Amino acid sequence: GEAVREQSDSPADLAAIREAAELLRAGDTVAFPTETVYGLGADARNTEAVEAIFQAKGRPSDNPLIVHIAARAALEELVTDVPLTAAALMDAYWPGPLTVVLPLRPGVLSPRVTAGLDTVGVRMPDHPVALALLAAAGCPVAAPSANRSGRPSPTLAAHVLDDLAGKIGGVLDGGAAGVGLESTVVQVQPDGSVAVLRPGGITAAQLAAVAGSAAITGISAAPDFTPPQDAAEALAHPAPDAAGEDSPAPRAPGMKYAHYAPQGWLGVVRGSSPSGAAKTAAGLLASARRRGETTGMLLFEEHLPLYPAGAADCVVSLGPLALPETAARSLYAALRRFDEAGATYILAEACPETGLGSAIMNRLMKAAAGRIIDAE
Ligand code: TXA
Ligand code: MG
Repeated sequence: GEAVREQSDSPADLAAIREAAELLRAGDTVAFPTETVYGLGADARNTEAVEAIFQAKGRPSDNPLIVHIAARAALEELVTDVPLTAAALMDAYWPGPLTVVLPLRPGVLSPRVTAGLDTVGVRMPDHPVALALLAAAGCPVAAPSANRSGRPSPTLAAHVLDDLAGKIGGVLDGGAAGVGLESTVVQVQPDGSVAVLRPGGITAAQLAAVAGSAAITGISAAPDFTPPQDAAEALAHPAPDAAGEDSPAPRAPGMKYAHYAPQGWLGVVRGSSPSGAAKTAAGLLASARRRGETTGMLLFEEHLPLYPAGAADCVVSLGPLALPETAARSLYAALRRFDEAGATYILAEACPETGLGSAIMNRLMKAAAGRIIDAE
């Protein structure tokens, strides 16, 4: 496969979008920009095409794909029911970084898309290139993030090519993804509550503004992060179970896999004060260096002065703690930078789990495989 168009400074033009739509219709895979991360798309009705996604990514086949549509009218064909609360959330946040899991209408999509589940996750991306591509293709498009399975998701076309060049039909370049983290995945429960299966670009507060704060049941990345359960368990304990106060919300099947990880060892440092966390991190980095590790530190801008000069071989700032949008936008590129620097031992500062911070911590904790270091 060759890149359809590689335009680093101009947005994908109409001819490139048409060519990409043609590839999709012909059963090929095409990577395209969305407002969250780049997706790797294929015609969701075509099993061979969908299989090519799993192949290219090296993705486990029991992890279902999100189906992307350009218009609300396309939803009817895909699902049998849209609960009122789900419709209200779509009214408010589509197009946008919200995926809604709904009861699947049998016989339309390839069963590979949903990994055999009787539900399907649907979203309408808020990106002009994505919407134009979906409209031109005229079919529902299954699209996971366009990275090799386990790697940080791509926020640039160059990231897609780093991971998938030669394995896909092409990539549309739309510049840097705006949100930088994947969509929020929700499922409306029979009791009307909204289970957050994966935190993302739409915050809990935004969901609560539509559904009421009492209705939102979510997952927390930390401090009580538990290793993801296995798929069988996830499927055996669907929504109703998890709506109870003491049971955790169900997770998207994909949440059990190692994800977003840099090649080096990564740990998340949490402390009651920024200076305490920085002191602990600096100490750990110094001893890692003495062991011969190439070190990396991921931190927030205002904490930089708390670290000794040259605290790590590669120091990457996510921007100010007060601007989680900036941190979300730069997180995956930052994790890829540690790989480029050859970092073998990486520490990352934790951030408060409010607003977009929930999604940031969720991805950091997954990238760190749950390794959290409590500062003194
Ligand atoms: O922002 C996004 O959502 C990006 C862009 C490309 O749209 N896509 C994305 O896809 O992140 P992917 O495949 O990397 O993540 C899909 C997540 C997985 O955790 C998967 O388990 C969950 O959504 N999911 C998909 N269908 C589901 C279903 N029927 N029930 C529960 N979870 C589902
Ligand atoms: Mg992904």
